Amino acid sequence: MKISKTKIGSIADHQIIQYTLENDHHVQVVCMSYAATWQGFMVPDQNDKLHNMILKFDDVREYLTNPYHVGHTIGRVGGRIKSGDFTINNVKYCVPVNEGQNLIHGGAHGFSSWNWKAATEILQDAVKVTFSRTITAQEDGFPGDIEAKISYILDNHDKVTIQFYGQSNADTLFNPMTHVYFNLSNDHKTINNHELQINSHQHVETDVQKLPTGRLLENRKTAFDFFKPVNMESALAQLQQETGKTQFDDAFKLADREHPAVVICDRSDHRQVSVYSDRNGVVMFTANPDGFGKSKEWEASHPYNGIAIEAQTLPDAINHPGFGDIVLRANKSKVYTVQYQYEEI
Ligand code: GLA
Repeated sequence: MKISKTKIGSIADHQIIQYTLENDHHVQVVCMSYAATWQGFMVPDQNDKLHNMILKFDDVREYLTNPYHVGHTIGRVGGRIKSGDFTINNVKYCVPVNEGQNLIHGGAHGFSSWNWKAATEILQDAVKVTFSRTITAQEDGFPGDIEAKISYILDNHDKVTIQFYGQSNADTLFNPMTHVYFNLSNDHKTINNHELQINSHQHVETDVQKLPTGRLLENRKTAFDFFKPVNMESALAQLQQETGKTQFDDAFKLADREHPAVVICDRSDHRQVSVYSDRNGVVMFTANPDGFGKSKEWEASHPYNGIAIEAQTLPDAINHPGFGDIVLRANKSKVYTVQYQYEEI
């Protein structure tokens, strides 16, 4: 097992450092200090050639401007909060909005806008890098100064564990997530041939601004039914037929915590990743992040090349009873865990 690091760029006078964790099977996890971003989940083929199962940008500057949040750690809160408004202990807070009238992905000064400090560790059966930073109430507008740590752990069972630690000096919100896009195929051209399974019977109804209405809709007999594995091309076709929408960007309520929340599979390249989460929801978003700034013609001729799997508590939970508790109490630490198990199939 080993860890290496290299400087890949800088913002202002802060160096952006990239870390590579490697296990005894030559599986690698690559991540960088800017936005504590996950850049590589590399697995070897028969000839020991490495293939990345997640999307990344080669040019680090792209991470600063591209709005798709490729691989970013998102916090304090993933997803949208209506008007940036919420109430804790009868006190109303309003965080500066950054998507029309609403707040998304922790706002303009959320976790994904900072360069994080890092420390590495070689454990008995795993390698680990931990990114840490204190984000103050003045910086991002949420109550409380929050000390956050994001750890990436790769073990010898080819499993990646991401831990999110938070502790704040005042009651605040904490629902962080990794905005990772999967594509398990060798060429990364499309996810149409992928099979997706989501351990869910219900998804979140949203309005035109993609804000949850508070209602849950049944998945059964609709394009949202991924309880058994479904081919993505047919799911997208069914979605369009039923709703007119050409893209999934939806939150699913998980049925339980025992089974994998999500299983993604590419039979042609014999790869599968199972995602486990200790929270109640997952957002699934089909996209082609390379399309940013390109023409409609470009988009039309390039199918989606990534499926974002965002494991978290259901979006805008603070404003919808029954969606889950994302309040982080003052001076009480909290750890959330998401795991990604790779298997050759
Ligand atoms: C989430 C949201 C999408 C989009 C992406 C990229 O998936 O649900 O609407 O904003 O993040 O940032």
